[in-house]
Amino acid sequence: MEAHTGDQGTLSLTGGQRLHGSVSVRGAKNSVLKLMAAALLAPGTSTLTNVPAIVDVEIMAELLRRLGCTVTWDTTAGVVEIKVPERLDHRADYDLVRRMRASICVLGPLVSRCGEADVAMPGGDNIGSRGLDLHIEGLRRMGVDVVNEHGYLVATSAQLTGADVWLDFPSVGATETLVMAAVLAQGRSTIDNAAREPEIVDICSMLIEMGAQIDGVSTSTLVIDGVPELHPVTHRTVPDRIVAGTWAVAAAITQGRVEVLGADPAHLTLALDKLRSAGASIEERSDGFVVEMSDRPRAVDIVTLPYPGFPTDLQPQFIALNAIADGAALVTENLFEARFRFVRELARLGADVQTDGHHALIRGRTSLSGAPVEATDIRAGAGLVLAGLVAQGRTDVFGVDHIDRGYAGLVEDLQALGATVTRTDEPSS
Ligand code: UD1
Repeated sequence: MEAHTGDQGTLSLTGGQRLHGSVSVRGAKNSVLKLMAAALLAPGTSTLTNVPAIVDVEIMAELLRRLGCTVTWDTTAGVVEIKVPERLDHRADYDLVRRMRASICVLGPLVSRCGEADVAMPGGDNIGSRGLDLHIEGLRRMGVDVVNEHGYLVATSAQLTGADVWLDFPSVGATETLVMAAVLAQGRSTIDNAAREPEIVDICSMLIEMGAQIDGVSTSTLVIDGVPELHPVTHRTVPDRIVAGTWAVAAAITQGRVEVLGADPAHLTLALDKLRSAGASIEERSDGFVVEMSDRPRAVDIVTLPYPGFPTDLQPQFIALNAIADGAALVTENLFEARFRFVRELARLGADVQTDGHHALIRGRTSLSGAPVEATDIRAGAGLVLAGLVAQGRTDVFGVDHIDRGYAGLVEDLQALGATVTRTDEPSS
């Protein structure tokens, strides 16, 4: 699979179709990339299943290859095999890291395995400043020396030692870095105010299967007793709750009926509840859920928060829903300050959205009108596609390569559900 590098691809939609049918969800992007990094902690061959066919997996595979691993990926079967050598290289170059912020997740495993790591400072989504101070401060407490040299974080440690760390904010990335550093450290680490997203639970589960000792999984206090070594495993990636939630909104916004298979509704409690408030009927099942909507949605207020709060990664999709809802909604974004940039694009479709700092006020309109728009990050792209599904006439969403980073086979799935959509892969000008 070729990884996309630039502003490529246009998705053209003609709005107005109600989506009907079934769609399957694979493993979570935000989990699998970290699981691939976690594999570095044990020499030998680890296998990940339920891997989504997204560009970021290929970027992470390339990063692991440069560290000395052999990585094979069967995109059809959704299986990634990672052969980790006894001796790893410890440098993650800027050309890969700048394309994917999640590359930072090799920092913890590399310091742990090699006693040193040179990781380029990441770029990634255009959704705010996204500091690394919590990662760095936590590692320092564990005896790691971290400096910023020529755009690289250079981390060195003669011996990682367990430590008590209190995170100022339950950062997903910092929790992952510190857990992956702590599992092979000497002694006990306690991470307080840890993130408890399902993807964190997934990584902890894999590490426990590898032989790590972690208590408090799925709570905000993780207690980790370091072990001398870990062993490779086969692990199934947790379903992607954000992709599943995006399909749920797609059903609601188009007043259709979509069966979402392979998802865990327990990971989407708040989002599904919001859709019920908007008027949808939702049937939860053991292997997914069905969303059905027969009327115009009602406006729903949203406040994004760390899990189990409402996920910021579903915020643009719910703004799109509110844009055509009956009534006005207030959306509060507490995680990424720049996430509202996407409403400027949504306004091109006729949405009535006013933003002020952390808040967006959306006054629902009876209809939107198709126009060319630009996807600036993965979830903004998803929000624009959803809006395009209901906008009258044609909507061209440029910058589909952003959407590719999180949604595999989006066009094919949309077509199978009855949407009028095509894709061209010419660079947009
Ligand atoms: C991950 C997800 C992203 C999701 C986010 C919140 C991946 C690849 N990405 O991002 O899709 O939107 O969780 O659920 O898993 N912060 C600091 N200092 C730090 C770390 C974070 O100030 O050291 C701030 C960030 O700027 C941001 C907030 O904390 O405002 C949340 O960041 P974090 O939870 O770390 O998200 P990511 O791991 O970057």
